[in-house]
Amino acid sequence: MDSTRWWDDETVAVVTGGNKGIGLEVCKQLADKGLTVVLTARDERRGSDALLALRKQGLHNLHFHPLDVTDADSIAVLAAWISQKFGGLDVLVNNAAVSGVVFDEHYVNNNNIDLADLMFKQETGEGFIIEYKSAKACIDANYYGVKHVTEALIPLLRPSSQGARIINVGSNYGQLSHLQSTKLQQELANLDNLSEAFIDKLLDTYLSDVKCQSLEGKGWPLKFPSYKMSKVALHAYTRVLAREVEKKLSPTSGRVFVNCVHPGFVRTDLTRLTGELSSQEGAANVVKIALLPPEDSPSGQFFYEGNLAMF
Ligand SMILES: NC(=O)c1ccc[n+]([C@@H]2O[C@H](COP(=O)([O-])OP(=O)(O)OC[C@H]3O[C@@H](n4cnc5c(N)ncnc54)[C@H](OP(=O)(O)O)[C@@H]3O)[C@@H](O)[C@H]2O)c1
Repeated sequence: MDSTRWWDDETVAVVTGGNKGIGLEVCKQLADKGLTVVLTARDERRGSDALLALRKQGLHNLHFHPLDVTDADSIAVLAAWISQKFGGLDVLVNNAAVSGVVFDEHYVNNNNIDLADLMFKQETGEGFIIEYKSAKACIDANYYGVKHVTEALIPLLRPSSQGARIINVGSNYGQLSHLQSTKLQQELANLDNLSEAFIDKLLDTYLSDVKCQSLEGKGWPLKFPSYKMSKVALHAYTRVLAREVEKKLSPTSGRVFVNCVHPGFVRTDLTRLTGELSSQEGAANVVKIALLPPEDSPSGQFFYEGNLAMF
């Protein structure tokens, strides 16, 4: 038996976007380690197929429930189901996300360029269209989705001496160095400046600049700006949430650890199967932090492929 094991088969972990990629592997690895796992997916069919595939591999401590992180009703139904079925949860892995990428067909056809090469071999933002609809959809899923799911599930989270855990799957693309403005980097680096209102306002400003097509000279990231801003916001939210949760807990009520992680550059649909790591390896970097022994777990931190890193 693993001496660092703090969980048992009644420890309930909920994973968003669990039907494929890193999320599916996180479900598999958590179930393999003996937790009870709720695999959620926005599409009922894709979610139940994923569950069935894991069951066929001999994993039975898994359940499926639909969840679209951008849909308030869907979130409320999941929360009610968890409350009724398990009485609460211990681990929340906010994994679901979209890339927000829209290719410029004209540029792609004229340059006869491979889409994966365009995404990851070219430094500039050329070849992409930044438009409001996809930018908003990206921010809505990757930032507000996490926030709304977390707000709905926090009342069901069971603080304990081992520590309940919220793991936000962030990204190296959410690191502050991607912002073109030093002032903005400094503002976001200082936890004293941060609040949910500050983060929401920053995203409103970004989206309003997208709407007016006036992104230049504002400090926003050059390439994949919507995805990067969604992850910058998610990292900042992680720090704010860790601070606010800490304030609400009393010494006797147990602990809650809130952290965000970069899983690595992983070959999934999000990266058009480009990357350095398999989904298994990427998921292991998430699961490692979700299952840290309580004495080793910080809160409000960012982990880069399993190691503490700078925001
Ligand atoms: N791959 C990488 O190199 C990499 C690097 C850094 C961070 N990440 C992060 O890792 C996480 C997983 O990404 P991945 O690479 O595994 O991507 P992926 O294979 O594209 O999987 C994304 C998952 O999110 C789900 N999803 C999207 N929108 C949703 C919504 N509104 N409600 C519920 N589920 C939704 C997708 O469901 P559908 O199947 O229905 O679309 C899918 O299950 C993301 O947070 C991503 O930002 C990935």
